[in-house]
Amino acid sequence: MVTPCCVIQGRTSLRGDIAISGSKNAALPILAATLLTDQPCVLHNVPELTDVANMLEALRLLGAEVISVGPRSWSICAKDVHTDARNPVVQHLRASVCLLGALLGRKRSASVAMPGGCKLGARPIDLHLRAFHRLGAQVHQPTGYVSLQTDYLTGTVLSMLGPRGPSMTGTSNAVMAAVLAKGTTVIRHASREPEIASLCRMLNQMGARITGLNSGTLIVKGVPFLHGTSFTVPPDRIEAGTFIILGYLRGTPVRVHGLTPQFLTENFQGFFDAIPSARRHSFFHDGAFEVHRIEDLPGLDICTLPYPGFPTDLQPQISVLASQAISASRVRDTVFPQRFAHIPAFRRLGIQAKVEHDTLHLAPHSTLHSGEVTATDLRAGAALYLAGILADGSTTVFRPDYVDRGYEHFEEKLQKLGAELTRLS
Ligand code: EPU
Repeated sequence: MVTPCCVIQGRTSLRGDIAISGSKNAALPILAATLLTDQPCVLHNVPELTDVANMLEALRLLGAEVISVGPRSWSICAKDVHTDARNPVVQHLRASVCLLGALLGRKRSASVAMPGGCKLGARPIDLHLRAFHRLGAQVHQPTGYVSLQTDYLTGTVLSMLGPRGPSMTGTSNAVMAAVLAKGTTVIRHASREPEIASLCRMLNQMGARITGLNSGTLIVKGVPFLHGTSFTVPPDRIEAGTFIILGYLRGTPVRVHGLTPQFLTENFQGFFDAIPSARRHSFFHDGAFEVHRIEDLPGLDICTLPYPGFPTDLQPQISVLASQAISASRVRDTVFPQRFAHIPAFRRLGIQAKVEHDTLHLAPHSTLHSGEVTATDLRAGAALYLAGILADGSTTVFRPDYVDRGYEHFEEKLQKLGAELTRLS
């Protein structure tokens, strides 16, 4: 039996058109939010990912009716749902933590298995639990799951600020628990990541009263009930960023579809600020964002930060680009300071890199060569594919299932651009 892997023949130039799929990190809390109403919600542009399939299954297991109504479109009706989400599907998905806020908001009760997901260092949920407690829930944490219980939720003042910035899924949870509470909830230091604004827009369409979107302070006026709606998931900025980085590495050019100038302005400020030559090598042309290879990339000095800073979810991918710069680079991750489990695999492929505390130091002009490597998480997996495309010879990436969790048809999209790769399973 073959161990599942992807074999990549490197040194290919990439050229052609690809379309960006719906955002994973927007879709997952939005799917959870369908639990907040007993009426059907119809969601479009839902990406085809294993994380999404698991979230749909988690909703089914709670008793929701989940029906495919077209390609990437789902109708979800949570008319009769129970509150016990202690099962292996939930355990394997980080975003399943959002079931807590949605069930608490709608049913005043929730038992949810402790979430799994990518191991990026410490991923506590203390801020989530503190928010539920302040809204009036009794919080218990027996081994392996979280249990929430209350007769009613009351608006209050919350802060979602953790030691390394506001929590993204924590903010989603606080909003979902507050929309049906009595009175007004003020969420200070709310995450400003665009996926939070998408969730709030969908909830407002369902009848919620949330203001302060994108401002860092969300004001949620509780309403008695929410109704169904239809909503289109926005493009995935991390997938887009991954293909843009690939274009800077090998594009002759790569043409990225599905992004608008406004989307790039809102989502890529921190990204373009961090790569000084980016704007000269990528621009809108003929209906697509066209990305050309950067030949003489100056060394990069990247620091990941909450939005609008450079996203941690592009840290491994930008590190591959930085390894090709003409002078040394530094990549610091302040959001997940231990998100460097992929560095041994990088080194095995020839990337000269060393980690000091929360910072990766990269030598210039690394020459990448063939090798066998194992993905350690979703974004690190994508970065290994980029490295494999760059490397001389054949690279084998094990655990490609990590990439399937969060990139829709990644390998097919790469092949469409001319990459030579084969999945063995
Ligand atoms: N934190 C706390 N306490 C908490 C929650 C977070 O101290 O209760 C700290 C964490 O330790 C971390 C920081 O706050 O240092 C950020 O964590 P956050 O809660 O924002 O992360 P998350 O919500 O679990 C989401 C994305 C991640 C992304 C991070 C940061 C989803 C499903 N996941 O995770 O996405 O890296 O925000 O932007 O939305 C990915 O897509 O590959 C991915 C890992």
